[in-house]
Amino acid sequence: MRKELLSPDPADAGDPRGAGPSNELLSPEPVPDDPVETETEVGLRPRTLSDFVGQRELKAQLGVILGAARQRGQAADHLLFAGPPGLGKTTLAHIIAVEMDAELHITSGPALERAGDLAAILTKLEDGDVLFIDEIHRLSRVIEEVLYPAMEDFKLDLVLGKGPAARTLRLDLPRFTLVGATTRTGLITGPLRDRFGLVERLDYYEPADLESIVARTARILGVRLDDEGAYEIAKRSRGTPRIANRLLRQVRDFSEVHREGFVDGKVAQEGLTFFGVDNLGLDKPTRAILTALCSRFRGGPVGLSTLAISVSEPTETVEDVYEPFLIQQGLLMRTPRGRVATLEAWQHLGLLPPASAADVSAIPGLLD
Ligand SMILES: Nc1ncnc2c1ncn2[C@@H]1O[C@H](COP(=O)(O)OP(=O)(O)O)[C@@H](O)[C@H]1O
Ligand SMILES: [Mg+2]
Repeated sequence: MRKELLSPDPADAGDPRGAGPSNELLSPEPVPDDPVETETEVGLRPRTLSDFVGQRELKAQLGVILGAARQRGQAADHLLFAGPPGLGKTTLAHIIAVEMDAELHITSGPALERAGDLAAILTKLEDGDVLFIDEIHRLSRVIEEVLYPAMEDFKLDLVLGKGPAARTLRLDLPRFTLVGATTRTGLITGPLRDRFGLVERLDYYEPADLESIVARTARILGVRLDDEGAYEIAKRSRGTPRIANRLLRQVRDFSEVHREGFVDGKVAQEGLTFFGVDNLGLDKPTRAILTALCSRFRGGPVGLSTLAISVSEPTETVEDVYEPFLIQQGLLMRTPRGRVATLEAWQHLGLLPPASAADVSAIPGLLD
């Protein structure tokens, strides 16, 4: 079903900017050097749209787009999925290929270095195939230029030779569907974005959806889990299926060693506490960011890069992986003058807030 061009799964290939070893447990990035983890994740991926839990609006729209394309016997429009890691973007690319009964070709922005890399992939496509480009915001300009006519007119412009003798050759490409995934919509150029028929943002999952995902994973892995156990794990999964699945495996291990393998609410709580996950689901590195913001920078405002350096994390990791959830939980705010801790952040950490933290509008520059 799937043809693997460059790596089994670009998301699993390891990313120099990715999360370091200190935060494996809650990192939404796949753990790069753990083949068992990767295999497990592949086995847990829902294969069809109806297996895909949550994201109802997105699912409904995709159902219509894919259904209509199937009826016309044509490739579906190009689709772009945006959102934090671990919410199901790669999974959706696989599902689209399955639903369209099409061959899936996988690559990623950083893997495409020269225009020839993309040309080689495009010329191998067949009618109706799905091409998945992960981390599409990391495509170089040159590659994007090749992609535009390919997406719009299904043409590939090849430059043959160099200097005055150079000439271009225009090749016809089969009708294919490009599926792009990005953690950074802000970094997608306008012309590229405009060439997608549908741009969809994946949101963090509702607790009830995460409970279903945890229950489904438990069935697949053969873990004995009751409703309270699923609830406790879902509650601390930061709205992210990948984290939910990982926490379930951790709790299962804890339970096998300490509680005869059965996971109820109490065991889940104990296991999660044992692994350093707090009641909001914040892990150590995420709490370290909040703690630095409050204790070291007195709640901010502080610049993103200064904050990142203070916790020894790459700026992009803080921005893409940790910050979105802190913002969504109302613990941290982005302001024109830098990052600011909210009153809730001080309370969550059990620290005494300065008077200014109570009143956000008192922070200079915030409402500029
Ligand atoms: N809607 C969903 N229903 C069930 N499991 C999901 C869903 N979305 C993601 N998952 C699980 O989470 C894991 C990570 O999803 P993935 O598609 O790799 O995320 P992304 O590409 O956005 O980082 C998958 O292996 C899958 O098991
Ligand atoms: Mg992915």
